[in-house]
Amino acid sequence: MERHWWKESIVYQIYPRSFYDSNGDGIGDINGIIQKLDYLKNLGIDIIWLSPVYQSPNDDNGYDISDYQAILDEFGTMDDWELLLKEIHNRDMKLIMDLVVNHSSDEHKWFVESRKSKDNSYRDYYIWRPGKNGKEPNNWKSTFSGSAWKYDPQTDEYYLHIFSEKQPDLNWENPKLRNEVYNMMKWWLDKGIDGFRMDVINFISKVPELPDAPNPHNEKYVSGSKYFKDGPRIHEFLQEMNREVLSKYNVMTVGEMPGVNVEEAKKYTNPSRNELQMVFQFEHMDLDSGPRGKWDLKPLDLRDLKENISKWQIGLHGIGWNSLYLNNHDQPRMVSRFGNDKEYRVVSAKMLATLLHMLQGTPYIYQGEEIGMTNIQFESIDDYKDIEILNMYKEKVIEGNESHDEVMQAIYVKGRDNARTPFQWNDEKNGGFTTGEPWIKVNPNYKEINAEEAISDPDSIYHYYRELIRLRKNHDIIVYGDYQLLYPDDQDTFCYLRTLNEEKLLVITNFTEDEVTWSKPSDLDFTISNKLIGNYESNESIDLNKITLRPFEAIVYLGK
Ligand code: NOJ
Repeated sequence: MERHWWKESIVYQIYPRSFYDSNGDGIGDINGIIQKLDYLKNLGIDIIWLSPVYQSPNDDNGYDISDYQAILDEFGTMDDWELLLKEIHNRDMKLIMDLVVNHSSDEHKWFVESRKSKDNSYRDYYIWRPGKNGKEPNNWKSTFSGSAWKYDPQTDEYYLHIFSEKQPDLNWENPKLRNEVYNMMKWWLDKGIDGFRMDVINFISKVPELPDAPNPHNEKYVSGSKYFKDGPRIHEFLQEMNREVLSKYNVMTVGEMPGVNVEEAKKYTNPSRNELQMVFQFEHMDLDSGPRGKWDLKPLDLRDLKENISKWQIGLHGIGWNSLYLNNHDQPRMVSRFGNDKEYRVVSAKMLATLLHMLQGTPYIYQGEEIGMTNIQFESIDDYKDIEILNMYKEKVIEGNESHDEVMQAIYVKGRDNARTPFQWNDEKNGGFTTGEPWIKVNPNYKEINAEEAISDPDSIYHYYRELIRLRKNHDIIVYGDYQLLYPDDQDTFCYLRTLNEEKLLVITNFTEDEVTWSKPSDLDFTISNKLIGNYESNESIDLNKITLRPFEAIVYLGK
């Protein structure tokens, strides 16, 4: 397998609004990030993925961009950004930027022009259609509730917006638009950035007829996605982007791809096809959702998670490349979702981290994960800021007849604001995030859960992450070894074996709050050389024919 720096790296995601506020306005900023770079360097990460810092009216916290080549005032200036890049590189780390080109903001100059008249030269930068019998052109739904179409009286047509109505979809059929995007990408790459994370990049090619969704209420992702996800020209567009832009730089690319399956992901990430290096897939994020989608809560069956992760590990091995994550700015906190954020917060966070970091792929750490930050429960809907939550609440509770309590329950479990409360730096006011009024409330558990505390405690989750990162750097088997799931039907433990040449790595994790006895499969040939890491103290003379795993225990052995 070809070696690459981006296969051997660990990425840390910064959601700038919630990271660190240096000027007391309650909003995280670029100077704040600069002040915390040593914290990230000490953690051991290699690459920072910065969620959008571009000019934006902030309908979707920066994922609605009104100028791709300017920095949002609240975050600082272009000079601040230049300094950030320099300081990151000075510390021998890399920076990847968020590329959001499925849609722009409706306040982008292209859209301001586009909506003026049907013959405006920018008209075709977006997707406009006349209404059908006085209604929307088709039955597609927006990810943020309601129709995916917005009527614009100025020209008596509708424009498509898969996300909010302030995020009109760009028309990638138009070569002029594609060219503008490529030039903009080159402009950033020429500034010296190290790559892109590409927002919903598998949505950019739509079936041109934009047909009605056959089962609008019964689609896994949002209705209509069948006609815009992995669309007819997607591979052609990505190959063109690669040819025109990416191939000219030594950079890293990761495509965010809701709804992508292994077969498609192989195409996106197979190096011989010259598209992207890795994708973020979501199948494992959907396993605790019922048939009605994300807000339809369903308990996770561990066997599903094992089956799914294994499918991706085996499917991409030797062909493409995985990215590894259990949370990000759109997902609940991993320890609350898959572990136990009360009595077993520390061990269960370490167990989940072990499980993930011993897999093949590039691991992503979402800010606060490394100190075990947890979900939030605001009593009032007014304390929530996320457009997805607020639109959904309005549709279901205010305009529909679903119960407030049930919808709040779903928000507590799945809402994106779980991940967006400010980073908890210390036990001072607002967790040390800001001296002002934070844009979203701080999780009240900051007194116990914060970075200062984690750094001072050698047994903390933070130090455990440092060790996981160090191990990946020192053991090729973690990066390049192959993968085999052990005991697929066991409901309590998730165990797997990695193999590289003569070397083997045995990863054993207990997903329950109970003690579980475990023994090595009788046909598995494995002799322990040494224990690499574990989240409990343990005696070294362990007998793999009978171990008692403690609640949420994780152990990794290197052997032959
Ligand atoms: C995915 C991003 O991660 C999410 O935060 C955003 O709302 C949508 N794409 C739309 O840009």
